[in-house]
Amino acid sequence: MKAIAVQQGESVPTLIDVPKPTPDAGEALIRTLRVGIDGTDHEVIRGGHGGYPAGEDYQILGHEAIGVVVDPNDTEFEKGDLVVPTVRRLPASGSNEYFERGEPDMAPDGAYVERGIAGAHGYMSEFFTSPTEFLISVPDSFAEYGFLIEPISNSEKAIDHAFASRSAFEWSPESALVLGNGPLGLLTLAMLTEEFERIYCLGRRDRPDPTIDIIEQLGATYIDSRETPVPDIPEAHEPMDFIYEATGYARHAFETVDALAPSGVGALLGIPDDWTFEIDGGRLHTNFVLENKALVGSVNSSVPHFEAAKQSLAAFPDWFVDALVTDVYTPDDVEQAFETDDSVIKAVIEFDTL
Ligand code: NAP
Ligand code: BGC
Ligand code: ZN
Repeated sequence: MKAIAVQQGESVPTLIDVPKPTPDAGEALIRTLRVGIDGTDHEVIRGGHGGYPAGEDYQILGHEAIGVVVDPNDTEFEKGDLVVPTVRRLPASGSNEYFERGEPDMAPDGAYVERGIAGAHGYMSEFFTSPTEFLISVPDSFAEYGFLIEPISNSEKAIDHAFASRSAFEWSPESALVLGNGPLGLLTLAMLTEEFERIYCLGRRDRPDPTIDIIEQLGATYIDSRETPVPDIPEAHEPMDFIYEATGYARHAFETVDALAPSGVGALLGIPDDWTFEIDGGRLHTNFVLENKALVGSVNSSVPHFEAAKQSLAAFPDWFVDALVTDVYTPDDVEQAFETDDSVIKAVIEFDTL
C-alpha cells in the first residue's frame, strides 16, 4: 500500500510502498480517508522533534487522521464505522499508570510513543490498525473535516487545564489572546469566540493575508507582533484574562506573563527549537506572585478531549473550516503537500473518500 514517510538521512517526505497491516487481537483495520499536516509534522521532518520507530530507517508521518473501519476484527466496532484515532500509544516497555488510568497525555517522556511523531509510524498510509480503545466514533458528516478533531482536542485539554487553575476563586474572563495564526492558533481562536467577549490573535504577516481575513471574520482583532510586541499588548489593547500560545517562539512563554491581566492564565503549547536568551527572572517572579498569574504547559490529549472536540468541530461555521483547509492533495502529490507559503493554512492528504 502507499504510505508517506521520511527516510533516515533525507529531509523531504516521499511516497513509499509498505505491506498492508494486519490487525492484532483488540485492534481494528481502518481505511484512511484524510490526514492533516501541521507545524509538528514539519518539525519532525526537519529532525527537530520526535524520532523514528525503533529499528526502522523510515517514519510514516501523520497524526491527524480520519478513516473507516474495514475489518472490526471481533471488536465493538462495525464495518463502515467512521473513526478518529488518538496519537499516543504504549511504549515497548509495556503498560504504565498513565495508560491504565486513561491519561496517556500526562505520561512523561519514555512512557509513550506518538504515532507519526515519536517512535511509531503514523496514519499517512492507505490503511492503518489501532487498538479500539484509541478510536473515537464520529458521524458520517465528519468525513471531510473530522481529521481536525485531533488538533482541536489538544486545545480542549489545554483550555481545560488552564481554566482548572482558576477554579479556586470567582474568575470571569472576558478577554482572550491567541499567539500564532497557524492552524492550531486559528482553530483555537474559533473555539474561544463563544466563551470570550473580546478576542485577539497575534501574527507577523502583512495584509492581504488569508489568516488575517479569518481572524477578522471570526470577530477577533489582529495584532502584528512586529508593530506590537507581546509585552506592549496591555497598553495598546488591554490586559488579557487568557492567553493561548501557539507560535513555538520561546520568548512568548515569558512575554505572556506581561500581557496577562491580574489573575490571568496563559496556556503554552508551542514546541520551540533550542534557544538560549536572557530574561529578567526577578521581575517575572514578582509579576507572577503579586498578581496571582498562572502559566500552564500542555501537550497531547486523551479520549475525553477528543469527545469534547467533536462538539467544537460541529459548532464551527461552515465558512471557517472551508477557509482553514486551503489545500487537499492526493498521496502522489507528496512533494507539493509539504510545501509551505503564506497561502497555505491547513493542507490535508486525501487517501480516499467515504
Ligand atoms: P505553525 O503552522 O508553525 O504555526 C505557528 C504560527 O505562529 C505561524 O503562523 C507563525 O507565523 C506564527 N508565529 C511564529 N512566531 C511568531 C512571532 N514571533 N510573532 C507572531 N507570529 C508568530 O504551527 P501549528 O501547527 O499552528 O502549531 C503551533 C505550535 O504548536 C507549533 O510549535 C506546534 O509544534 C505546536 N503544537 C503543540 C501541540 C501540543 O499538544 N502542545 C499540538 C499541536 C501543535 P508565520 O506563518 O507568518 O511564520
Ligand atoms: C500533536 C500532539 C503531540 C504533540 C507533541 C502535536 O502536534 O498534535 O498529539 O502530543 O504534537 O508531539
Ligand atoms: Zn499536531
